[in-house]
Parts: sequence; C-alpha cells; structure tokens
Amino acid sequence: MTIQWFPGHMAKARREVTEKLKLVDIIFELVDARIPYSSRNPMIDEIIQHKPRLVLLNKADMADKDETKKWLRFFADEGVSALAINAQAGEGLREIVQASNQLLSEKFARLKAKGVKPRAIRAMIIGIPNVGKSTLINRLAKKNIAKTGNTPGVTKAQAWIKVGKELELLDTPGILWPKFEDQEVGLKLAVTGAIKDTILNLQDLAVFSLRFLEKAYPERLKERYGLEAIPEDLVVLFDHIGKLRGCLMGGGTIDYDKVAELVVREIRGEKFGSLTFESPEYFQSDETADH
Ligand code: G4P
Repeated sequence: MTIQWFPGHMAKARREVTEKLKLVDIIFELVDARIPYSSRNPMIDEIIQHKPRLVLLNKADMADKDETKKWLRFFADEGVSALAINAQAGEGLREIVQASNQLLSEKFARLKAKGVKPRAIRAMIIGIPNVGKSTLINRLAKKNIAKTGNTPGVTKAQAWIKVGKELELLDTPGILWPKFEDQEVGLKLAVTGAIKDTILNLQDLAVFSLRFLEKAYPERLKERYGLEAIPEDLVVLFDHIGKLRGCLMGGGTIDYDKVAELVVREIRGEKFGSLTFESPEYFQSDETADH
C-alpha cells in the first residue's frame, strides 16, 4: 500500500489515533527492525504522550541480529520497553502479552485496590504503512480466536480481538506517516520496501545501497559480486555488476537502470543476508537524531 501523505491526511490520521488512544491502556508501536529510527513516526511522542508503550521491532527475521540486540539495549537505556518480533512467523507474540502485563501491573493493582473488577488489557497497534500492522493483528487474532464485537460501555463501532484472556486488541491499527522530509530516511524506507512505488530515482537508491553495503557489510558485497576489492569509483562497480549479470543494452553497453534494479531487488530479497540499515549509536540523543 502506498499512501500519499498530504497535510489533510496527516491531520486526519492523527485525529483518528488520538480518538482511539482514549480506548486503550497501552500502545504497541510497530517499527521495522532494519530501520528502527527511520520507520518511526516523527511525532509519535507528542501524539501518544504518557500512554504506556511497547516498541515492537518487527521483521526481526530480516534484520542483523547483533544490531537488533544493540537496538533493544538502546531502547532499554532510554527507559522504553521494546521487543524484537517476527509477525509473519508469529515469533515473540507471547512476550508481547507478558511485557504488557508487566508495564501495566501497577495501574491494574491500583484499580484492583479501588475495587474495580479485573479486566483484560486493552491495546492498539500504531505504525507507518507496511511495517506489518495487519500481519501482526491477523497473527494475534488467529492464534487466539474470535473478535469480541463491541465492548459495552467503551465505544460504538470498534471491534476488539481477544488475545488469550489477558489482552484485547483494537482490530484496526493507527496508521501514521513516516519521516519523509529527510532524504536519507526516504532512501532507507525505499530500500526496505516501506515505500513501494518509489518516487526516488532507482539509481540513487542503488548508489545509496551500495555505499551502505561497502561501509557496513563490505565482505558480503565482495562475495556476492566476486570482487577482490571494492572499487572506489561507483561507475566501475556498476560496470562490473552489469557485465557479471548481463545487464546490457544493445551494442553491449551497460544498462545502469537494470543494474540499479538488480541491486535493490537483491537487497530486498535478502541476497546479502539479514541487514540493518542504521545503528543506534547514531541516535543517542535528539541533537544527533537528524544526522
Ligand atoms: P501494514 O499493515 O503495516 O501496512 O503491513 P502488512 O501487515 O501489510 O505487512 C507488509 C509486508 O510485510 C507484508 O508483505 C507482510 O507479509 C510483511 N511482513 C510483516 N511482518 C513481517 C515479518 O515479521 N517478517 C517478514 N519477513 N515480513 C513481514 P507482503 O504482503 O508480501 O507485501 P510485499 O511487501 O511482499 O509486497
């Protein structure tokens, strides 16, 4: 799904999320484990304010495991609860319920002390498009049965999904926009497939990707394209890949668009293994967050 975000859409999305916030005890903020910073909505803190939140690093199967560990430590250091999950395979789902229970134990103990009857935790999923929200909802729903219909006294038309006895999930996620004003963020969103019909130039995307691989995973780049050393000049690298893979135009000249497409397709198809495109060291404080 590609969404064009205009100011009107953003205001509407924000309004919808703010409305739903009132119905839940906790937010599950879904991000892409390969780009945990770039796949967050830029206004998320302001929008959800003090509502308890659990950050879910989804698609962890596609991310570099060591980097995911670093990100989990980073969130822990920031005092934010976070888990790595794979919504597609249903990995990490039990931990979501456990972590929610932990985060809300004090609130629920207070309610109990006041004589309020115990009830399930109410949660909603929030995230930018393509981060895996529907996949996670379906997984949680399938795992643990039926929709409950409307919960009396809560709302008019919101359906809740029961996840075991302890959790109820809003059946529609909150969809928010990505940080698209930053060129590098846009490139990362495109290379991970969060932005599909990319408005970015494919060659720019391939150049960004190759430079990234050269810096972060040079051995994998060398191995994949049979290189002894990575040429400094990217045109030489494009030529090499083009010849190797037969990305040629009539007369045998290299078709750079084809090379670019191939490189991006191979990255998305995990031909370079599991990749993480940004490290937490980069984002230690807000002052450096935009770099
Ligand atoms: P959304 O509701 O947030 O927009 O995202 P959605 O669930 O539609 O997921 C977007 C794509 O990401 C889907 O691929 C989905 O299968 C995939 N996905 C979701 N969670 C995971 C995960 O944990 N691991 C992996 N590897 N993939 C995941 P799709 O429908 O096939 O779309 P496409 O991008 O392949 O075309």
